[in-house]
Amino acid sequence: MVYQANSARYESMEYRRCGRSGLKLPAISLGLWHNFGDTTLLANSRQLLHRAFDCGITHLDLANNYGPPPGSAEENFGRILREDFLPYRDELIISSKAGYTMWDGPYGDWGSRKYLISSLDQSLKRMGLEYVDIFYHHRPDPETPLEETMRALDSIVRQGKALYVGISNYPAELAAQAIDILNDLGTPCLIHQPRYSMFERWVEGGLLDVLQEKGVGSIAFSPLAGGQLTDRYLDGIPADSRAASDSKFLNAEQLTEVKLEKVRKLNAIAQRRGQKLSQMALAWVLRGDTVTSVLIGASKTSQIDDAVGMLANRHFSAAELAEIEEILV
Ligand SMILES: NC(=O)c1ccc[n+]([C@@H]2O[C@H](COP(=O)([O-])OP(=O)(O)OC[C@H]3O[C@@H](n4cnc5c(N)ncnc54)[C@H](OP(=O)(O)O)[C@@H]3O)[C@@H](O)[C@H]2O)c1
Repeated sequence: MVYQANSARYESMEYRRCGRSGLKLPAISLGLWHNFGDTTLLANSRQLLHRAFDCGITHLDLANNYGPPPGSAEENFGRILREDFLPYRDELIISSKAGYTMWDGPYGDWGSRKYLISSLDQSLKRMGLEYVDIFYHHRPDPETPLEETMRALDSIVRQGKALYVGISNYPAELAAQAIDILNDLGTPCLIHQPRYSMFERWVEGGLLDVLQEKGVGSIAFSPLAGGQLTDRYLDGIPADSRAASDSKFLNAEQLTEVKLEKVRKLNAIAQRRGQKLSQMALAWVLRGDTVTSVLIGASKTSQIDDAVGMLANRHFSAAELAEIEEILV
């Protein structure tokens, strides 16, 4: 059956301006890091994309290495895009990245011009796209001159292969330098993609201020700490959860009793607010005006519904914020 997007898709979502650019992003964006590789049923990935777009989630985030195996998330996404989403291409903001190991040898990793430009060419081929909306340098490269990496991003925009560029995982000072170089080149940095959640708050130590001052947007990845800031692990580790998979990024050892105790206390506050912990955790990341969008992952469509449900209750009282703060310290 031909996919027909929900005609009310723009009614349930809020769109927020990305820094001082002309682009608005949905308050919630969907990442394809997990659940889009060759180890996931294509039908499930397809359902996730349908549900996301039907809820007004117009921004989908990929990277060259998402899978497993690396590249397969872009390939599978490309297939679903071709089969279901081509009529909606201009309603979508599709991003990709390069910066982590992608192929053998010295040109398949980090931040050289050689790597970035050839990697994006490969990503475009895998997804069947002529351009991506946002292309990121995925992580800082301690060896390549920052000017070379930023010049590569500028070239990519001038070549028409990306409409905007961004950086990810750059610490505050380096981000400021990268943003200044891009401005001088005439290709402003649209956005920074850092990890940010109740459990991971390094961005509060300067990065968010830099972005605010320079008019660059931000999209917070892993706002649920991979699922830890949800009710998923309150009664043990479910067999179908990320912590039960062979993920390098979330495993049983990370779910310490100290952490679970915090999760239980946070969950009690969320219940009092009449929402799920996952919803409170997302609302908390969006609480100031500094974060443009929360970049979630999902293995089930109900998790996307949960995220969108958060928009109905985003306000925190000063007392609630103080109580949360006490739990997090
Ligand atoms: N730039 C970078 O370096 C970088 C790094 C990492 C991620 N990212 C981006 O950020 C995106 C999101 O990362 P993430 O997947 O770690 O984000 P996350 O939102 O913190 O975690 C998502 C996981 O939490 C669980 N979950 C979500 N909603 C839930 C709910 N309502 N109830 C219970 N469990 C729920 C699901 O895990 P289960 O599988 O257990 O159901 C889901 O896969 C990635 O796809 C990627 O696009 C970027």
